Amino acid sequence: MHKGKKRIGLLTSGGDCAGLNAAIRAVVHRAVEGQGWQVVGLHKGTAGLLSRPPEAETLTPHRFEGMLLRMAGTILGTTNKGDPFAFPYPDGTVRDRSDEIIEGFRALELDGLIGIGGDGSLSILRRLAQQGGIPLIGIPKTIDNDVVGTEVAIGHATALWVATDALDRLQPTAASHDRVMVLEVMGRDAGHIALSAGISGGADVIIIPELPYRIEGIAGKINALRAEDRNFALVVVAEAVRREDGTPVVQGHSDSGQALYGGVGHYIGRRIAETTGAEVRVTVLGHVQRGGTPTPRDRLMASIFGVHAVDLLAAGQSDRMVAWSGRNVVDLPLAEVVDRPHRVDPQGALVHTARGLGIYVGEDPS
Ligand code: F6P
Repeated sequence: MHKGKKRIGLLTSGGDCAGLNAAIRAVVHRAVEGQGWQVVGLHKGTAGLLSRPPEAETLTPHRFEGMLLRMAGTILGTTNKGDPFAFPYPDGTVRDRSDEIIEGFRALELDGLIGIGGDGSLSILRRLAQQGGIPLIGIPKTIDNDVVGTEVAIGHATALWVATDALDRLQPTAASHDRVMVLEVMGRDAGHIALSAGISGGADVIIIPELPYRIEGIAGKINALRAEDRNFALVVVAEAVRREDGTPVVQGHSDSGQALYGGVGHYIGRRIAETTGAEVRVTVLGHVQRGGTPTPRDRLMASIFGVHAVDLLAAGQSDRMVAWSGRNVVDLPLAEVVDRPHRVDPQGALVHTARGLGIYVGEDPS
């Protein structure tokens, strides 16, 4: 253990999103100015800890005086591949490299770690922290908003804004050409982005993985709109929705075996054209949902989470995640969070709202 100032590590892990730099800024301010600690920014998630010397930089509040609060991405870099417990090699083999990461952490003489990540990253960080005896606090981030135990994860609000903005842009062109516009959005196995953007952006149909759909149900809604003299329709599809026969639409798999979604919008669009005769166009929104200027909500949550994470470490807490619940910042054990993604509740308020607006949101599963 080093003597002198306490030093904490800070990393971003998993897919990037808007608001990460705001969270980094909040941690640095609170730790350096509030506690007198040093903050070491670890590069590329845990991947930078595999290099020798470990890839890292000391972060000071001065660094954040300019544009960083307003910028998406992460100044620390990130990775969503290469699970350290099953690290993939080009020859197809995997090896456990967790000890190397822990050695890298020790080489930097760190007293604690704040990890900003989604469900999968927090699970890996927790295992590393337990193995290495490292005090760890997690901050939830993901555009998918599927982290359990918190109403909000950093990045979701901006992704929702981007998806809603896409619908705002698709509506006039749909109406001008008498078309059905299909918008495919991200979200991994959860339909939060699709459902919220669909409601906010005036969609007529929203298809999410949590609710079964029938092409006849979608066609019935589009035909009902035509009968009311509406000449266009907006359809939102979440990327993990499956074909009618239950098969997923994937572009391949990541190194860690996760499905790389993308393309189900084209399948749904083709089926709509076949069953209704409508002219259909498809937009796959993709990674633009991860960028853009972070919304005030994402900057706010990032700031609240960053300050609270440092306060928890300062109070000697570990193995906890900061969260937003009931208009307040709270924290809960990471054990209650990891490996159980939060998906759309088919009986919840948003599905009820969508149905109340006359949106076709799939079939009632009961
Ligand atoms: O988890 C965030 C997310 O953007 C998902 O919505 C999407 O399925 C995935 O990451 C895409 O990952 P990648 O950046 O590896 O293409």
